[in-house]
Amino acid sequence: MTDTSMAIISKGKLHGKVAIVTGGASGIGEATARRFSHHGARAVVIADVQDDKGREVAASIGLNRCAYVHCDVSDEDQVKSLVEYTVHTYGRLDVMFSNAGVSSSSDQTVLDLDLSAYDKLLAVNARGMAACVKHAARAMVEGGIRGSVVCTASIFGKMGAEKLTDYVMSKHAVVGLVRSASLQLGKYGIRVNAVSPGPTETPMKRKVLGYGPEADKIAESMVSIKGGGVIAAENVANAVVFLASAESEFVTGHDLTVDGGYIPQLF
Ligand SMILES: NC(=O)c1ccc[n+]([C@@H]2O[C@H](COP(=O)([O-])OP(=O)(O)OC[C@H]3O[C@@H](n4cnc5c(N)ncnc54)[C@H](O)[C@@H]3O)[C@@H](O)[C@H]2O)c1
Repeated sequence: MTDTSMAIISKGKLHGKVAIVTGGASGIGEATARRFSHHGARAVVIADVQDDKGREVAASIGLNRCAYVHCDVSDEDQVKSLVEYTVHTYGRLDVMFSNAGVSSSSDQTVLDLDLSAYDKLLAVNARGMAACVKHAARAMVEGGIRGSVVCTASIFGKMGAEKLTDYVMSKHAVVGLVRSASLQLGKYGIRVNAVSPGPTETPMKRKVLGYGPEADKIAESMVSIKGGGVIAAENVANAVVFLASAESEFVTGHDLTVDGGYIPQLF
């Protein structure tokens, strides 16, 4: 057994690490902030625009190991300040989980694509992702940290859809960002990967699919592993812990799908 694996088993997969989780007030981000802390992270900084929820999550994890910072990821200055706050307060940045995202504001096809809504969505899901990768990577390079960056893409980064055109485009952009950034940052020892969830039980999924038996049936029909219920935010969080930790030390430029087997059914 290597020294790295021994340390992982004895102290927690993220022992002593300092991490940022964007979109950490809810859903996949919240579950991941909790998993990071459970796995020994020294500090988890939750960044979100839902201030009350974000503060509540940070307090429930423990203010000695978790903080909340208001940050709208579509504003580069706010992302830069978030990273500066983290490095100034905790001395370093080891992990950036760039996860904040929004769903389409309507069911538009390309025929009635609302380009103002498109600009707003892309500003968060694509531009915001790029700002987070940029400023996290700069802090890691400056600090000589062999860090890990994980971005939340989606199964919609691998396929088209009958609606949600802007959302599908934004998730393809995330995959392109991860592929390019992983190539560019490898020389600094920084890894960049994506996690691509299928329909995962969060407020966003409910906004897109709605509530009730019909919605549940659609989500279940998208999963080929039967009998295990629906994908939970914790299922995605566990994959993110793997990508963030030294367990995946030679994994970079990868898009890890957590979809219960939906994509393999298509191809
Ligand atoms: N739930 C799913 O089925 C699913 C599937 C694939 C991908 N995803 C992706 O997972 C990520 C997390 O989504 P979720 O399902 O947990 O949804 P969610 O709505 O529960 O969480 C998203 C979080 O992002 C925050 N956020 C939104 N805009 C922001 C901004 N400008 N700046 C900072 N924070 C902002 C929200 O306030 C919220 O707390 C998103 O990128 C989403 O596209 C979700």
